[in-house]
Amino acid sequence: MKKPAGSPKRPLRQLLLWPLYLPTLLTGAKSFKKNPVIGNRLLNRLGLHVLRLLLAAAIFKLRRWQLAWMLDSTDRQQLQRQGFLVKESFLPADMFQRLEEEARNRQLEARICLQGDAITHRVLLDHVTQAQLPACRELLAYRPWRRMLGYAAGRYRVPGVWIHRIYNGVNPGKLDPQLTLHSDSFHPTIKAWLFLDDVDERNGPFTYVPGSHRLSLRRLVWEYRRSVGMTGEGDHYSASGSLRLGPGDSEYLNLPPPVACKVARNTLVIADTHGFHCRGASQPGSSRLAIWCISRTNPFNPLPGLPFRFLDRIDLAIFRGHLAWQDWRAARRGGKPSWRKTPPEWRPDS
Ligand SMILES: [Fe+2]
Repeated sequence: MKKPAGSPKRPLRQLLLWPLYLPTLLTGAKSFKKNPVIGNRLLNRLGLHVLRLLLAAAIFKLRRWQLAWMLDSTDRQQLQRQGFLVKESFLPADMFQRLEEEARNRQLEARICLQGDAITHRVLLDHVTQAQLPACRELLAYRPWRRMLGYAAGRYRVPGVWIHRIYNGVNPGKLDPQLTLHSDSFHPTIKAWLFLDDVDERNGPFTYVPGSHRLSLRRLVWEYRRSVGMTGEGDHYSASGSLRLGPGDSEYLNLPPPVACKVARNTLVIADTHGFHCRGASQPGSSRLAIWCISRTNPFNPLPGLPFRFLDRIDLAIFRGHLAWQDWRAARRGGKPSWRKTPPEWRPDS
């Protein structure tokens, strides 16, 4: 029988590493499998995972409360109640046209990731690429964009931003983990898509279970059980801290049916991906293009940061540095990083 996550293969070594892992309890670290403290069955029986969950949710509320002035009360309430927000015709038509033309046609060095039968293609909008992309710069400075994302993320400044295209059904037969309803992490995490294509059942609509970001008593019990019963085998993604819904879980949690966000181009969708979500089914060979954001900051930091835009440049340089570090690590092992560089002329069939 396999040992549960957190049951060390080399107990003495793991014990010696504990002082190094302890501080990670106050970060977004989430892997039951890799982190011997987070995956420790005794600590989770005593409520460690649920305590982190509750504390992160309370701190996130406090951060959003400090930024409540950034968003009108209707949108705030919808985000709080449903866990996601849909804003149609988000940009003025001329601004959207410039952005779309630029994102669709400008060829730039990018990164791709193969996951299941899909390929995700991204261009990081840091200062290097922004220098070539005036319409993207205009978007990142656009006040409604900054305020909406800022409030949603509980952070003054807009998080990391990419031009993002999903190519569906490129590797037929492989199971895509993004197609299963899941929660990204134990704490609120914000993702946003400004869609540059119409999105429907043909190209994989973002799908969300309304209200599933809230910590009901049943959700806490479910999280507690998952944390003490987590095993390293089978469900790799759950053991890594992104809990997947299993058979009967939706009924136990009294969840409503998921909603597929079938939306027209120029719609902004913002979601707290602590709630259960997935990418909907799609037709092989389809794709969808968006400007995509993620904010995954330290969930135990009660402060929303500083409102100075020059700090965006540092944030985005850190993303670029992180990717370069992954390149270096992969090269050292003689392999390829999970996000590999591609030339500007790359196509999924190339
Ligand atoms: Fe996700």
